[in-house]
Amino acid sequence: KSRQKVAYVCTDCGADFPRWQGQCSECNAWNTISEVRLGSQTTRNTSASRGGFAGLTQAKVQTLHEVDLQTVPRFSSGFAEFDRVLGGGIVPGSAILIGGSPGAGKSTLLLQTMCLLAAQMPTLYVTGEESLQQVAMRAQRLKLPTDKLRLLSETSVEVICELANQEKPKIMVIDSIQVMHLSDIQSAPGSVSQVRETAAFLTRYAKQNNVAIIMVGHVTKDGSLAGPKVLEHCIDCSVILDGDSDSRFRTLRSTKNRFGAVNELGVFAMLGDGLKEVKNPSAIFLSRSEDHGCGSVVLTLWEGTRPLLVEIQALVDQSQLSNPRRVAVGAEQNRLALLLAVLHRHGGLMLGDFDVFVNVVGGVKVTETSADLAILMAIVSSYREIKIPKEMIIFGEVGLSGEIRPVPNGSERINEAIKHGFKKAIVPIANLPKGKLDGFEIHGVKNLQEALNLL
Ligand code: TYD
Ligand code: MG
Repeated sequence: KSRQKVAYVCTDCGADFPRWQGQCSECNAWNTISEVRLGSQTTRNTSASRGGFAGLTQAKVQTLHEVDLQTVPRFSSGFAEFDRVLGGGIVPGSAILIGGSPGAGKSTLLLQTMCLLAAQMPTLYVTGEESLQQVAMRAQRLKLPTDKLRLLSETSVEVICELANQEKPKIMVIDSIQVMHLSDIQSAPGSVSQVRETAAFLTRYAKQNNVAIIMVGHVTKDGSLAGPKVLEHCIDCSVILDGDSDSRFRTLRSTKNRFGAVNELGVFAMLGDGLKEVKNPSAIFLSRSEDHGCGSVVLTLWEGTRPLLVEIQALVDQSQLSNPRRVAVGAEQNRLALLLAVLHRHGGLMLGDFDVFVNVVGGVKVTETSADLAILMAIVSSYREIKIPKEMIIFGEVGLSGEIRPVPNGSERINEAIKHGFKKAIVPIANLPKGKLDGFEIHGVKNLQEALNLL
């Protein structure tokens, strides 16, 4: 008789536990552990023995230098920005997860990609969420070529793989992983066990048949669906499509990539006729009005392999509360608290009675410490009501003793600013370029006090 094996898995981080507990001891989240049925023992055994047999015939031990170093073959998705995030294109036989909140534009991006790829190779688009008619109508509205793309509306993974065996696609889209199910597993589609097992099944299928599979994974705030985190370990690449619903810009970022670097950023704009690539993202995040106010600073971020100019705004205002507010949108809250402490101790500026708000314009998320100096200068600019020149960029990391530390890729950041018509810069002294720059006024600063004196 078959016995169900049970595991306990955190829906947030995907950690496994032998028994249920209230708090996940990996990520410290509460009430996220749920029961996972691992399919019946008998089916497990047969698949394991099959896997074992296949392994016997194929596996071979090699020394490292014998390994074939031919570059991984890749094919382009048709979007340079998408390719960049994937590390240079789609690798055949890889499993890619594209995550994002509902409405971010995942289906749109993949439909556009697949319609264009269909001209070059066999493709299969599996939709479990929308009807065939809805997909067709969207493709028509987006004026995409529809004569080649093969379409399937199905949610059973076994049926999908059987049909894929006949179609033999080179690339397949599963939209979305949360509606797919395996008959082995009793729990509902979207639950941790279904999502984990279907993703693992599809990943195996991708490897064995050399089909690139792109899975869509919704990220929901309340965690009602098992998120992309729980299956991140088994797939090759995980990319997130992000964007405010009130902004038309979407950013694509990889969080895991077995074939390239992570944290590459791709930028798209959602227009009336689908997603369009943004080739020069600095230009859009910088669309500043002619007459900018106090508290606004431009800095150069480093995103993967390229610089990105963004604007940071700060507002310092007399507080009505006994506990003044420190709000950071697009930047880290803790970092802001740290910077304000440094400003007090080493800049002599006490903001204890003031609310401090910091906002990164355009919905960009700043995770780099190179934004430190720009954030502080924006705060001081707002507090003292001194405008920072419009054609100035500022970057640099601020240390706890008030020193300004160098950041990586300093000269590329400066060049990007010059390319966009900036004329002045405040940078860490160690990031000063060697030669002179024509018509570009650049100040290297050692500590916070020097930077403040420049204002
Ligand atoms: P969709 O791809 O369905 O999102 P997801 O699959 O990630 O849930 O995108 C839907 C949103 O995109 C929807 O709110 C409308 C918007 N949209 C446009 O603005 N222009 C377009 O051409 C399309 C197709 C969608
Ligand atoms: Mg969708």
